[in-house]
Amino acid sequence: MSNILLSGFTGNIGYEVARQLAGNRVRALVRNVAAAPHLPHVEIVESVTDDTEIIIHCAANTAFRAPLDELRTANVEGTRRMLEFAARCPRLKKFIHVSTVCASGDTTGFIAEAALSRPTAFLNPYEESKWEAEQWVLGADLPTEIIRLSIVAGSEKDGSVRRQGALHHTLFWLWRGLIPMMPGAEETPVDIISTEYAASFIAAAAQSAQKSETGILHACAGEFAPRLGELLGHLTTAFSAQSAAWRTGAILPPSLVDAQTFGLFETTVQQSGDLLFQRVCGDAKSFLPSLLYPRVYGNQHALALNPQAIGDWRSLASLVSHYVIEQHIRASHDRRLPNGVAASGQ
Ligand SMILES: NC(=O)c1ccc[n+]([C@@H]2O[C@H](COP(=O)([O-])OP(=O)(O)OC[C@H]3O[C@@H](n4cnc5c(N)ncnc54)[C@H](OP(=O)(O)O)[C@@H]3O)[C@@H](O)[C@H]2O)c1
Repeated sequence: MSNILLSGFTGNIGYEVARQLAGNRVRALVRNVAAAPHLPHVEIVESVTDDTEIIIHCAANTAFRAPLDELRTANVEGTRRMLEFAARCPRLKKFIHVSTVCASGDTTGFIAEAALSRPTAFLNPYEESKWEAEQWVLGADLPTEIIRLSIVAGSEKDGSVRRQGALHHTLFWLWRGLIPMMPGAEETPVDIISTEYAASFIAAAAQSAQKSETGILHACAGEFAPRLGELLGHLTTAFSAQSAAWRTGAILPPSLVDAQTFGLFETTVQQSGDLLFQRVCGDAKSFLPSLLYPRVYGNQHALALNPQAIGDWRSLASLVSHYVIEQHIRASHDRRLPNGVAASGQ
């Protein structure tokens, strides 16, 4: 049993990490005690104590297109301060930094579980802030482990997500038939994993005395990642089972296009002044451009630590899309005025 300090407990991944660490003494560092969820083995704290043995730094501002300054304050400065605190913990065994495979920016091809040189470009300010945070971790004279997660879609049990992000909004717009085209090719891997699978690597690293060979692990689907064409085909079948518009072909799956064509589509949407389409494009812009940079993530070291079998991506995609659609329908129902007129433009 270790004294574990966890940041990001109120988020999608932190909560599941804490749940999987039952049997340990977990202190969750939160910003708002009143809003924190409850788990029997988790003590909610607002400040840190130096008897900490394991630090799991999971907190981050995950708004992909927030201003870089704002993201740097949370993600880079926040990490630097946690490292500073870690250096003052005499019993520290491990500092686990939760990062993202997106820190690889516009790099394509095989991405190894190793330090990333600065990519030519980042696709959004979030990626840049997470890459910079990694540099602080790599430079620290501490027993650090970086765990880069791929796209964490939702729970493999019921598709639930504590906080929906760009992926989830894009899924909903897709279902509504509002995404006529997507950048990318049939063969582009889309590395999605469940929240449970992502958290299992962080929990395993926290409970293992060993440090991995490179100090960097990828919690990802790797060679089991579905291809974009397969994923869209699967979603088309799943949506058709639920919706007559999909079944009859009134809504068609998006065409896969190159960067230039997708750019033209975005410009047209901007010029149209259509607020709903601008919102759709804003959400899509946070998530879809990464599909133009096909890559496969190595996960050999991660699997050596945590040889858990990855679940079926088809089941995960079906459950998450079903959950997201239900939540959006419920939210739009809640927004309706008492006389039954929709309160928003949707
Ligand atoms: N979800 C993914 O697909 C994914 C993929 C790759 C990597 N990751 C990484 O995994 C980690 C967790 O992601 P998530 O999906 O669980 O994110 P999330 O659901 O957005 O939760 C973010 C967590 O960080 C906290 N936080 C945000 N800004 C903060 C700040 N300025 N100071 C202190 N705490 C702050 C939030 O606390 P409040 O409740 O107070 O806002 C919340 O607990 C992050 O490091 C993220 O970069 C996530």
